[in-house]
Amino acid sequence: MTRSVVTIDRHIIEMERRFPEATGALSNLLYDMALAAKLIAREVRQAGLVDILGTTDKVNVYGEQLKKLDEYAHDVIFRAFDHSGVLCVMASEEAEGPIAIPERFPVGKYVLLYDPLDGSSNIDANVPVGTIFSIHRKVSDAERGTLEDLLQPGFRQVAAGYVLYGAATMLVYTTGQGVYGFTLDPSIGEFLLSHPEIRMPSPGERIYSVNEGNTLHWDAAHRRLVDHLKGLDGANPKPFSLRYVGSLVADVHRTLLYGGLFFYPGDRKNPQGKLRLLFEAAPIAFLVEQAGGRATDGRRRILDIEPESLHQRTPLYLGSPPYMELLERVLAETPTEAMA
Ligand code: AHG
Ligand code: MN
Ligand code: MN
Repeated sequence: MTRSVVTIDRHIIEMERRFPEATGALSNLLYDMALAAKLIAREVRQAGLVDILGTTDKVNVYGEQLKKLDEYAHDVIFRAFDHSGVLCVMASEEAEGPIAIPERFPVGKYVLLYDPLDGSSNIDANVPVGTIFSIHRKVSDAERGTLEDLLQPGFRQVAAGYVLYGAATMLVYTTGQGVYGFTLDPSIGEFLLSHPEIRMPSPGERIYSVNEGNTLHWDAAHRRLVDHLKGLDGANPKPFSLRYVGSLVADVHRTLLYGGLFFYPGDRKNPQGKLRLLFEAAPIAFLVEQAGGRATDGRRRILDIEPESLHQRTPLYLGSPPYMELLERVLAETPTEAMA
């Protein structure tokens, strides 16, 4: 029996109906993110063509010379939201500080943080890339949002999600009522519900996902962990497979659907790891927990971390509960020398 066709707009309306007190502001944010995703998907898909066609004498919708995709995606999201009247402040991985809502536009009670293009080093090789977004409520009493509204712990997020520009373009989001996945049908320009209620299989497939190129900088515990997962320590009769795309959104999407483990640990070179807490780890952790998985920094839930600065990094470990317990057990078994 074929599933009924549900567009993301229809889904958002139905989710909003569950909350009679909802004002529709959060729904508007999700509509606008879906629009931004379509605009970015169009450019990502043409990126190769643009290279083939040489200089981009193309202009974008605002009459500006087409820029690098990171900047393009950053601009598209800013312009999709700056006039929405729903946000009081934004922050982007591509911008140093808070992004104010232009004075000429009204402000609202929400806050948006985003990684406009995730995995951008992969774009020229046509490897999947993504966009990550995180939405909070305003907490400061300033009329137009401030840094205080941006530096909130992950457990206060009201929504989070990502767009994956892969073989298909998918938008996956949660508002705390489960995780929903939509696939873009480019022939009609609509995101259609393709993955109602994504639940991470537990324990799921025996997959681990980490950049082993950093082994030289890891401490003994992480080397022992990966040896164990590979069956090199003689204590794991069923070695895990390694899958590592190098785009967080792609590696996380696979882990949500197949189960397994993803981790980007801190090491001697980068004790806090590489991934950004506010633009990557916190929104991803909200999705992972809503899908029944766990996400930590090796010691704490990612969602419990109180941010101190906008671009702070954090180690990130995520996966199905049984495999996260295995990871934590093996890491705890090996005395770790200091990360210094
Ligand atoms: P971004 O392109 O937004 O800077 O993110 C890249 C991140 C993330 O997507 C991925 O998990 C990680 O970089 C891969 O890092 P390594 O290449 O060091 O493995
Ligand atoms: Mn990123
Ligand atoms: Mn990025």
